[in-house]
Amino acid sequence: MLNAKLIVDRDFVVSELDRRIFGTFVEHMGRCVYGGIYEPGHATADEDGFRGDVLELTRELGTTIIRYPGGNFLSGYNWEDGVGPADKRPVRRDLAWFSTETNQFGTNEFMKWSKKANIEPMFGVNLGTKGADEARQFLEYCNHEGGSALSDLRKEHGYEKPHDIKFWCLGNEMDGPWQICHKTAEEYGRVALETAKVMRWVDPTIQLAACGSSHRNMPTYGSWEYQVLDHCYDEVDFISLHTYFNNHADSAAEYFGVIELLDAFIKEVAAICDAVGAKRRSHKKIMLSLDEWNVWYKTHKIENMRVPGWPEAPPLIEEVYNTEDALIVGGALIAMLNNADRVKVACLAQLVNVIGPIMTETGGDAWRQTIFHPFALASKHGHGRVLRSVAESDSYSAKTFPEIPYLYATVIDNPADGTTTVIALNRSLTDSMEVEVELRGLGADRELVHATELHHSNLKAVNTKEAPNTVAPKANKDVTINGERMTVRLKPASFNVITTKATPAGNA
Ligand code: AHR
Repeated sequence: MLNAKLIVDRDFVVSELDRRIFGTFVEHMGRCVYGGIYEPGHATADEDGFRGDVLELTRELGTTIIRYPGGNFLSGYNWEDGVGPADKRPVRRDLAWFSTETNQFGTNEFMKWSKKANIEPMFGVNLGTKGADEARQFLEYCNHEGGSALSDLRKEHGYEKPHDIKFWCLGNEMDGPWQICHKTAEEYGRVALETAKVMRWVDPTIQLAACGSSHRNMPTYGSWEYQVLDHCYDEVDFISLHTYFNNHADSAAEYFGVIELLDAFIKEVAAICDAVGAKRRSHKKIMLSLDEWNVWYKTHKIENMRVPGWPEAPPLIEEVYNTEDALIVGGALIAMLNNADRVKVACLAQLVNVIGPIMTETGGDAWRQTIFHPFALASKHGHGRVLRSVAESDSYSAKTFPEIPYLYATVIDNPADGTTTVIALNRSLTDSMEVEVELRGLGADRELVHATELHHSNLKAVNTKEAPNTVAPKANKDVTINGERMTVRLKPASFNVITTKATPAGNA
C-alpha cells in the first residue's frame, strides 16, 4: 500500500476554470461527420439527418465547445462549397485525406447541430490555399447582422440571425510539412497578423488563436511560437498547442510519463508567450488553446489515413481505446486543470469514430469508448475554481520523464454549490494508494456526494459494440471523511473523481 497526501487551501487558487477546457473536435475526416454526427436515413436520425444516438452521447460527454471543420481538411476548404442549397453544392477531392467531399454538411448544418448538442462552435479559417480575404468574407457571412452581400446571402440560405461565432482559429498546423500550403514561421506570422486584423475589423468581439506547434517534437518548436507571436502578439488572444500521446514502448509505466511531458509543454509555451510579451513590455497575456489532443498511435500509419480510390467518408484512424489510454486521457485532463490559469480552451480530438470517444457503426449502434469516461466525469464535476494543490507522494523514474509521482491530482472548488471535487490518478501499476486529503478552509463538516473510479484489472481491456461497458466507472466505497480531512483508497492504475460538500452548519 502506498501512502500519499494532498493539501489545498480555499484561498490559494490557480484560476477560475474556463469550461471551454472540455472541448472536442469535428473534422471532415473519415466517418466523423458522415456516418458520425450526420447520417440521414439512420434509425435515430432527426429531420436534419443528425444521428440522435450520437447527439445524446455528445451531451452526456459534457463537451462545451467543438472545433470545426478541421484539422488538415481546413487548409484546402472553400467555405462557400458548404452553404446554400444542398443539391447545388460541388463535390470535391479533399487533398488532406484523399477522400471525396460531397459538401452535404457545411457551416449552417454544423451550427444547427451545435444548438441541438448544446455546445459552443469554434471555427477555423483556411490559411493554406486561402488567406485574409476569404477569412473576412467567411466571418461576414457568419457574424454580420445583415445589409451586406454576404450577410444577406446567409439570410437567403435560411439563417436570419447571425451565427455569432466567437472563437476562430487562424489556420491549422501551419508548421507541418504535411499541411496543404505549409508555411515558415515568418510567412505564417505575417498572414496571421493581417488576417487577424481584418477579421477584428469585421467583428471586434471575436477571439483569435494563432497556430502554435503541431507537436512538442517538431524541429521548429519554440522558435515557431516566438517568431509567429513576434508578428501577431497584439492581434491574437491565444496560441494553439497540439499533442497526441503514444505507448509505442508498450509500457504503462513509461506511458504515464507523457502526462508530465504535457505539463512541461504547457509551461514552456506559456513561457515563450511571456518572453514575447516581455520584449514588447506588454501587459497582455496570451492564453493557450490545446485544440487537438488525445491518444493516437495504433492507427498512425499512412494506410490508416488514406484509402485508395477517393472514397466518400472511408473509415480512417478509428483507434480503439483501452483502459490505459483512458488513464492517460484522465491524467492529461488533470494536467490541463492544474494549468487552468493559461489553458482556457482544449479540444479532445476528435468526437466520433476518428480517434473519438464515441464510436458508431454506419447504419448501426453507437457506444462509449474507454476514453469517454474520464472526460465525461471531469466535465460533469469540473465547475468552479482550480485550487493550488500540494501533493506528497512517492515517485518513480522512466525514460519518458525522470520523476513521475504515483499520485497525480487536481482539486476544484465550486463556491456556487459548496462542493469540492478531487480528481486523482494512481499511477502505480501494482499498489493501492491511501490518500489523505486536507481541504483547508473549505468547511469542517463535510459529506460525501459521490466517489467514482475508473479501473480495470486488464490495462488492454476495450469497449466494443458487443461489450460496450467492459471499462466503465464504478462507485468507490473506500472513502472516509473526518472534519476537513478525507481519506480515500485508490486502486492501482485508476482514475478517480470524488466530490464532497460542506454542510451548511460546517461551512467556513
Ligand atoms: O485529428 C487528426 C489530424 O491530426 C488533424 O486533421 C490534424 O490537424 C492533426 O495532424
